[in-house]
Amino acid sequence: MLLKNQHQALKYDTGSGELKNWQITETYFDPETLGKVEAVFSLGNGYMGLRSATEERYAREVRGNFIAGTFNKFLGDKEVTELPNAADMTEMSFTLNGDTFQLTDGEILHFDRTLNLKDATLSRTVHWRSPSDDEYKLIFTRFVSLANKHIIAQKVAITPLSRNLTLKLHSGINGQMTNTGTQHFKEGVLRLYDQKIMKLEAHTTESNIDFAHFSRHAFTLENSVITPKNTIFMDRRKIFTTFEPETIQQNETITIEKISGVYTSRDKDWKDADQALAIFAMTPNYDSLFKAHRKAWQTTVWEQYPIQIEGVDFDQLAIRFAIYHLTGMTPAHDNRMNIGAKGLSGEGYKGHAFWDTEIFVLPFFTTSNPKIARQLLEYRSLSIPGAVRKARDNNYEGAMFPWESAWLEDGEVTPVWGAADIITGEPTKIWSGFIEQHITADIAFAVWQYYQFTGDQDFMEKHGYELLFATAVFWQSRLEKKDDRYEITGVVGPDEYKEHVDNNAFTNYMAHWNLEKAIQYYDLLQQENPELLASLSAKWDLQSNYQKWREKAAKLYLPQPNAALVIPQDDTYLSKKIIDLTPYKEASQVGALFLDYNLDQVNDMQITKQADVMILLYLLENEFSPDVKQANWDYYEPKTLHDSSLSRATHSILASDLGDKDLAYSMFEKASRIDLGQNMKSSDAGIHSASIGGIWQVVVNGFGGVRMLDGRLYVHPHLPEKWTELQFPIYWKGARLHMKITHDMIEITNTSNKDVEFVLNGTEIVVLADSTFTTN
Ligand code: BGC
Repeated sequence: MLLKNQHQALKYDTGSGELKNWQITETYFDPETLGKVEAVFSLGNGYMGLRSATEERYAREVRGNFIAGTFNKFLGDKEVTELPNAADMTEMSFTLNGDTFQLTDGEILHFDRTLNLKDATLSRTVHWRSPSDDEYKLIFTRFVSLANKHIIAQKVAITPLSRNLTLKLHSGINGQMTNTGTQHFKEGVLRLYDQKIMKLEAHTTESNIDFAHFSRHAFTLENSVITPKNTIFMDRRKIFTTFEPETIQQNETITIEKISGVYTSRDKDWKDADQALAIFAMTPNYDSLFKAHRKAWQTTVWEQYPIQIEGVDFDQLAIRFAIYHLTGMTPAHDNRMNIGAKGLSGEGYKGHAFWDTEIFVLPFFTTSNPKIARQLLEYRSLSIPGAVRKARDNNYEGAMFPWESAWLEDGEVTPVWGAADIITGEPTKIWSGFIEQHITADIAFAVWQYYQFTGDQDFMEKHGYELLFATAVFWQSRLEKKDDRYEITGVVGPDEYKEHVDNNAFTNYMAHWNLEKAIQYYDLLQQENPELLASLSAKWDLQSNYQKWREKAAKLYLPQPNAALVIPQDDTYLSKKIIDLTPYKEASQVGALFLDYNLDQVNDMQITKQADVMILLYLLENEFSPDVKQANWDYYEPKTLHDSSLSRATHSILASDLGDKDLAYSMFEKASRIDLGQNMKSSDAGIHSASIGGIWQVVVNGFGGVRMLDGRLYVHPHLPEKWTELQFPIYWKGARLHMKITHDMIEITNTSNKDVEFVLNGTEIVVLADSTFTTN
């Protein structure tokens, strides 16, 4: 038996040949750390995300199946809208010659559980000795179909090794799931059709979304189809069947297929549960489903994003892991939905979308799959009414985007109370929903970045200009006149360890940028599309706003570098106490600081949670000199705990820019291990979407050196010493470029029919249509 202390929990080199750097394997079963693998190995297709809880149940498991955009709000003042945990369709419990199959009982002779990124499948092989001393081999496989987004397919093969097997399988659909105790569903119809398909209907309690769940089973013994005796069983919110096949001979294999589907009234083609049943009934068997699923991953994911890293196997795996989750977390099918901060892999952050989408994840799509990027930005455009309401409720104008968002029309959904304050014993108030306001400018920034990369004029006319203007209307109403300048006081910046600060540099600069962009595009539309400008003016009172933008942007206070070239993070940060952060920086668990201090105390110290001034230096990089960047790195990094998973990727990119390859690489190593690393407690509530988007940014924007500055494309690679080659695709104004970078040369292939101009290592070049440009 493999003992946990003798091995690292996760192995990264179990794939060989075609599967080299495509697999992650859990090497032993640990009932204490189920959450990590449930999240990190979760399966998803953007429509749903399924935590990889095992078929059989354990005390500390957190099963979860989240269907994008199906938000519900439980009754009560303390509740906010959240993504409900839908009925579980994966549970199967096995009785093998009278023993319940449980890895906590008997003896595990072999265990491995593998996520295969290439085929997006999860498999588990177990050799188990039961408490009655019988041996069995069990092989489980499953996937969440990318080709048919409603479908989960499972297969289990059981071989009795020491004597014949009397098997009892209890399997079905369990609607008793909750979000940490909160039940979001009213019970609906339960039904068995044709002795075959189990159905569970459910309806969310407040948002009234209909859910229809179906499961069906098929059995083969060796290669012959068998029909075991079965008994249906219904309970509150639960429909199960007990299957009892004839005796299985020693060394023969019984295979069970369970195909399940979920459909909801959020689906664009939803009619009712009967129609969903008719669709589900036509679903083919596991092997056919798998073929289509595998092909969908091959053609729509891996051929679309062929990123190759030579030199360090783990890094190749890490970028594939990132793309795997970026695909699984993104509801690319529906512009009424966005990406949760934990994707669809757990209850963390309640399925809400944050600035994580625009600043950390969107660059991947903008650069590599602009169609999906557009959909995600359309979500913001469609949610303008909620943002207008939030502005109005706070006595501002324009669109004030919510810090956390769910339904389009919701406006703000950030919970008000959070973790315990270790000093007062009370819950800590979460101020972000009230005063973390930079998200409004972050969204405008992402719109502009998308426009520059794609040149998508249609998007701009339908959504983009309005987003740029509506956000600028907000900012001009938000600015406060202090003597002869404008300020922004009482905010939380990206560093959430500082609350109610005045003139957070990031917020002020981004607001200023937003105003300037609105002015620029107002001027442009006046020349080029006065009709569109007139209609937007009528809606947003742009004529009078334009004057205010000009006046206020010119006088908005932008904290300048001091004598030591340090940009003050806010008005008081630099005068606060400095403490030695070494123990907290080295702590294995995030947030260790709060075991010793509460947030009020941290507020009074020069401690930064995550990139704050540093992300400003990245996003608006051409407004700051290399000296200023270096001075701020040297000042702030030692004071930054990287307690948010968003932090390290930004630091790595800046380190690349500053020419410190080793530092850039060591920051990348840490960033790429946030979910994928050996810390088995890192991800229980779900994977970290922004950090995963950040891994891609480090590879392409950091090491690949791809940037868009003032509307121009720049490429200035900084390949890590350990890498011998990096290849990745980018789209620029509709043209697809494939970049191949080694230490000696850069090869750029333009597979489009347009010439592409850009600045490569400081020199202007043109890569002609359908041709390859090579430099050394
Ligand atoms: C970070 C935010 C982030 C949020 C969701 C917080 O811990 O400080 O910047 O948006 O997590 O990922």
